Amino acid sequence: MIGVVAEDSITWTDDFLIGIEELDYEHRMLIKNINLLHQKLLDHDAKDKIEDTLGDIHARMQAHFALEEHFMLENEYPHYTEHKAEHNELLDEYTEFLVRFESKNGMPDCLQAEESLSRWIVNHIVTSDKKMSLIVKQ
Ligand SMILES: [Fe+2]
Repeated sequence: MIGVVAEDSITWTDDFLIGIEELDYEHRMLIKNINLLHQKLLDHDAKDKIEDTLGDIHARMQAHFALEEHFMLENEYPHYTEHKAEHNELLDEYTEFLVRFESKNGMPDCLQAEESLSRWIVNHIVTSDKKMSLIVKQ
């Protein structure tokens, strides 16, 4: 399918950098996946193609949050519990969304869900993840 030229859902900026190389790399990859999803939605790609990307995002988020949580524990981050709760909340919401998507009426609210996921990710990186990196690096 010929791609519709569209803006990314999230434009990467160095303001997203938290200064921890492996986590910055993963944030970049996660945003790349979300932008790919955004493009597929705009292109009205087939449901199974969109489902593949939704699955990739899910796997990436799970692995990324696990790594970040491991990193926080290793560094005895004092706000670990709140931070992990934020991760869990998003994963629960995302999993619920996946279940709805897989049911046959899942498509209509997909762009909206993708926008709210994008907002959540950006907000989480620039607030919670940055706060964590500043404290851990002290
Ligand atoms: Fe985080």
